[in-house]
Amino acid sequence: MQDIRSLLERAQKDGVALGHFNVSDLVLLKAVFSAAHELRVPVIAGASEGEREFMGVRQITAQVRALREEYDFPIFLNADHTHTLESAVEAAQAGFDSIVFDASALPLEENARQTRLAVEALKGVRPAILVEGEIGNIGTGSEIHELATDFSRYLTTPEEARQFVAFTGVDVLAPAVGNMHGMSQKMVEGEKKKRLDIERIGQVRAAAGVPLTLHGGSGTDDEDLRKAIEAGISIIHINTELRVAWRSGLEAGLAAQEHQVVPYKILPIAVARVKQVVLARLRLFNGDQVTSGEVEAGVTSAV
Ligand code: G3H
Ligand code: ZN
Repeated sequence: MQDIRSLLERAQKDGVALGHFNVSDLVLLKAVFSAAHELRVPVIAGASEGEREFMGVRQITAQVRALREEYDFPIFLNADHTHTLESAVEAAQAGFDSIVFDASALPLEENARQTRLAVEALKGVRPAILVEGEIGNIGTGSEIHELATDFSRYLTTPEEARQFVAFTGVDVLAPAVGNMHGMSQKMVEGEKKKRLDIERIGQVRAAAGVPLTLHGGSGTDDEDLRKAIEAGISIIHINTELRVAWRSGLEAGLAAQEHQVVPYKILPIAVARVKQVVLARLRLFNGDQVTSGEVEAGVTSAV
């Protein structure tokens, strides 16, 4: 099976993006795996520091590895938004395939200095590990925000991208190109969409010389996502959309069976709702590479 690095190379050649979906419980992991498996496209499950603390660093690693091995399927695990070297090394040692080292809240020079140290340390743990750095400001929190903040003054310039990548040695760069973390209520209701600066993505990609990740993908205009992939985005992170579906599925599961207490009779509705979101996003990110929605009998229902 190809590793995450070669899948990323292939995604660039094919003009598609790898879907990255955050998970914080088994409902989300089942939905992410099941959707990717049904479409036969590789997928990255992500776990931020908070998500890792809830699930257990070694436990989520074991679950993802078990899925990959049992189904011989390319699902990989990313340590998302990792703010300290200690937790980055912990995830690398546990077996995460990639690490997002996020010092983007610091001034750019200090961000670059710390990211460079992280790259050195993480490659020391496992040379093949993929390390991503972040620049610019796209806000924090994959949740529903009262207002959509204007981050336009923090957009990444091509020169910043070039210098940051050259200095740090990151494999992947996450820039600020009109994206933001989380959704406003209007976005949840579909009345408003995030819009991306496509021209800037092309310029940043050319200057950086490495693949780009788009964070804060939830609620982004579909056509902008297609153009962003063409312009050089190779990984797209989606979290809030899944969390919204998770909550509504959970509520529906509880409401449908008033006196039910058996988790595995309540939670499948939540899995199904999250899976619909992942399917739609993977179809968009993988374009023509998604050949069909055929399901191998018994396989997706087994996970
Ligand atoms: O790293 C996670 C993401 O960037 C997700 O952002 O919650 O806006 O989809 P989102
Ligand atoms: Zn993110």
